[in-house]
Amino acid sequence: MIRIAPSLLSADFRNIEKEIKKVERCGVDLLHLDTMDGHFVPNITFGPMIVKAINECTKLPLDVHLMIENPDSYVESFVKSGADYLTVSIEACRHLHRTISLIKSFDVKVGCALNPATSFCLVKPVLQELDLLLLMTVNPGFGGQKFIESVLPKITRSRKFIEENKLKAEIEVDGGINPQTAQLVKKAGANILVVGDAIFKSKNYCQIVKALRAS
Ligand code: DX5
Ligand code: ZN
Repeated sequence: MIRIAPSLLSADFRNIEKEIKKVERCGVDLLHLDTMDGHFVPNITFGPMIVKAINECTKLPLDVHLMIENPDSYVESFVKSGADYLTVSIEACRHLHRTISLIKSFDVKVGCALNPATSFCLVKPVLQELDLLLLMTVNPGFGGQKFIESVLPKITRSRKFIEENKLKAEIEVDGGINPQTAQLVKKAGANILVVGDAIFKSKNYCQIVKALRAS
């Protein structure tokens, strides 16, 4: 089943509660929250305090995407803020298995993100531990970037490996997803679509959500 996760990075933060209600009415499945620290990526967004405020505005599961160095130090505060999914970037984890175990110890879903230039092979040893494999389809840091098509074979390879080994990990894609690129990633095997600009910069959010789901 395809699940849609609007990325609030592209929403109007002056009216964040209204924006959340608007996407809720379109029947979206998760809210994707992009945490950036100005070190792992060249941009700074928000931390646990804002995640908590957002959690108080919605019943939707919060899909928290950590684009930060040293994620272990912040796992507990993001869990306390209401994260349902906590995804770390593989490139920021020196001891990935330890970080995954730490997240699991708090009984939330755990994800691991791979940048476009990072090979699927690197995540294979821990894939059985994951609820979510997040394949970045842009270089992380900003919304509104162009989809990187060369990531498609990695999605196909990941889907094949997950099916062959009967693993539970869902495949999420993030970056430059719109109704056109959605067709490509769904065909390759992605089942959670993170979508920022295509929803929040459109006039009719629900029309885009519907188009993203359509095959
Ligand atoms: C990029 C973020 C994404 C991004 C998606 O670093 O992880 O979640 O905001 O936005 P669009 O869909 O506009 O590429
Ligand atoms: Zn993201």
